[in-house]
Amino acid sequence: MKLLEGKKGIIFGALDENSIAWKVAEKCTDHGAKYVLTNAPVALRMGQIQRLGEQVGAEVIAADATNIDDLTALFTQSTDILGGKIDFILHSIGMSINVRKNKAYDDLNYDWMHKSLDISAISFHKIMQTALKEDVLSEWGSVLALSYIAAQRVFPDYSEMAEAKSLLESFGRSMGYHLGTRIKVRVNTISQSPTRTTAGSGITGFDDFFDYADQMSPLGNASAENCADFCVVMFSDLTRMITMQNLYHDGGFSSMGLNPAVLDKGQ
Ligand SMILES: NC(=O)c1ccc[n+]([C@@H]2O[C@H](COP(=O)([O-])OP(=O)(O)OC[C@H]3O[C@@H](n4cnc5c(N)ncnc54)[C@H](O)[C@@H]3O)[C@@H](O)[C@H]2O)c1
Repeated sequence: MKLLEGKKGIIFGALDENSIAWKVAEKCTDHGAKYVLTNAPVALRMGQIQRLGEQVGAEVIAADATNIDDLTALFTQSTDILGGKIDFILHSIGMSINVRKNKAYDDLNYDWMHKSLDISAISFHKIMQTALKEDVLSEWGSVLALSYIAAQRVFPDYSEMAEAKSLLESFGRSMGYHLGTRIKVRVNTISQSPTRTTAGSGITGFDDFFDYADQMSPLGNASAENCADFCVVMFSDLTRMITMQNLYHDGGFSSMGLNPAVLDKGQ
């Protein structure tokens, strides 16, 4: 069964084969979609996205997701390459300079914080606003971004990325109203389990984080492949009326209070 036959998309954020966006791209190909891959210029130089492009037969276009000129050019080129308007967009972008530089939460550098929020959250608004202005989205299209439960609960080592994810989810809801009423496009965020990727592993104590969530969740952690399956469904016509939601994709973690398995492990 091919859920995305005839659909055209743009996938932001595939860096290497561990990236969630990489798995999403592979699954979108399996389901018959055509799409453009994009990432920041530095990621095109340092990462393996060109290899993915060759593997799936997709064009790779450099765009800094915080730069409106880059986004405008990306949309123009993508509609030319794909031969029409865009049916789906994946925002799979996150980066915190304070986290990367191991700054404590009560000693954050605010210039870096602005940059982190711009890259990890405001870029989502910029992508949607630019797409709307350039009129490149198809009716009944689907826009997704990836989030994490630190938007709602405290995970101290996640630092300012918690605020970035809260902002990201809020942009999803608010823009969901505007895109929905104007062009019948839906916007959602997927709150994913901890996943072993470059961005994920940058969080202090990631392995403990990962193991704790895995124990706590009745189904265990959702993998990047599981997340990619969910993204395909959210891009497909089977989910046309889901919008302005933050959808937990976490094996049940978000509904748990206490799991005896975690206590047993501690004894
Ligand atoms: N890994 C996890 O545990 C986890 C859990 C929940 C949500 N997420 C989210 O999933 C998304 C994808 O992350 P990932 O885990 O696959 O890691 P990743 O490191 O593979 O992907 C992050 C991507 O962001 C890109 N990026 C950074 N700055 C950019 C810019 N200015 N313009 C365009 N792209 C830029 C990077 O080049 C990279 O491709 C992120 O939003 C992340 O927060 C990850």
